[in-house]
Amino acid sequence: MDRGDLSLDPNIRSVETSEFQKALRAKIVGQDEGVQALVELFQVFTAGLNSPGRPVGNLLFLGPTGSGKTRLVEAAAEILFNSPRAVIKIDCAEFQHSHEIAKLIGSPPGYLGHRETHPLITQEALAANQREDLKLSFLLFDEIEKASDALWQLLLGMLDKATLTLGDNRRVDLSQTVIFMTSNLGGSDISELFGGGYGFIKSEDKPMLDINQKVERTAVEAARRKFSPEFMNRIDKLVVFHPLDRDQLETVLEIELGMVQKRVLDTATGKFLFRVTDAGRDFLLEEGTDQRYGARHLKRAIERFLVYPLANLLATQQVRMGDLVRADWDGVHKELTFVREREGALINPEGPAEDAVAATPSADGLGKDTPVEAIAEEPTRTAVLPAATPAAARQSLQGRKKESRS
Ligand SMILES: Nc1ncnc2c1ncn2[C@@H]1O[C@H](COP(=O)(O)OP(=O)(O)OP(=O)(O)O)[C@@H](O)[C@H]1O
Ligand SMILES: [Mg+2]
Repeated sequence: MDRGDLSLDPNIRSVETSEFQKALRAKIVGQDEGVQALVELFQVFTAGLNSPGRPVGNLLFLGPTGSGKTRLVEAAAEILFNSPRAVIKIDCAEFQHSHEIAKLIGSPPGYLGHRETHPLITQEALAANQREDLKLSFLLFDEIEKASDALWQLLLGMLDKATLTLGDNRRVDLSQTVIFMTSNLGGSDISELFGGGYGFIKSEDKPMLDINQKVERTAVEAARRKFSPEFMNRIDKLVVFHPLDRDQLETVLEIELGMVQKRVLDTATGKFLFRVTDAGRDFLLEEGTDQRYGARHLKRAIERFLVYPLANLLATQQVRMGDLVRADWDGVHKELTFVREREGALINPEGPAEDAVAATPSADGLGKDTPVEAIAEEPTRTAVLPAATPAAARQSLQGRKKESRS
């Protein structure tokens, strides 16, 4: 080494990128490869090294339904642009016929209804989601295997040249855009690889590495059979999402419950805390997840069995500001039951959610003004998510499990 040479470490990430990665990790369970792909892309973009005249990235997400393909994109939008909806999302199934393409790009001038069509993909629409200091946009094509030929032609152009010509000949520049495409092609074959509830992998009889390789091969083979080489060659990164196992689904539930708790703490009508017992969680997992649909119906189950009843309790003033409510499973009547465990469980319930502080008797070791997140990590009071990280969510899960065993 010459005098003055300084060895450099290209693996160190910028602070901004590390934070992005951490925030993604807090929202997405497993799917490391997908998270990694996005993080790398972000790093290249923020360094200004993305290739000109091409989209920032063309990513294809494969894998079974309910495994987080769409969620990953939404989570990234939430982190970077403050809203999961800061993504232009095209459901390819809705654009099967050529005339429907007009909804996407508008019809040529002079056509009947020309003035009424508002194309979905426009420069303005892309810009609307951007941040002043982050001129990046997300475009998502969901279920691309259902796209019509006309849509494929458009897509091929976008992936290659980063431009789209609208019906009225305006051009949309996609060189600041990440194009995500998802498909659950091969998903049913992948689920079959797993067999036996929840895609639970019995590590003794099937080494994990093997299964992972098989999952990948199955998905990629299905994609190669279905999609033209022309298309596959334009993909920068193909990521295969894996079916979630039981533990991962539990962590997803933990995150989702945390989101509900945050929603409750954000309401104006009454901020309260809730916790769901293990039996209650098992019930929600049974209702909201399965091998075929992954975590697809988890949100729905939470809304139906937890959020609606809580809303009713709040509307009828059975639950009040600052209460701690416990949701438990009643095996006899086969329903979730709700009990008010404590009043005045929150200090400063009037303030914003971030300021909400759980009031806890100092006898149990926590100070009077323990922040909500800290309590969230306390296994006995897991009610009070949002846990700051999935690690915290997992930790609190493990804590609870240990406790229920003892
Ligand atoms: N890996 C994950 N991490 C966190 N949440 C997840 C994960 N996978 C699924 N979920 C939850 O399940 C819901 C459904 O997942 P998502 O919409 O991402 O499925 P998908 O893989 O896009 O399925 P499809 O192929 O049917 O579109 C998400 O909104 C999220 O609540
Ligand atoms: Mg999806």
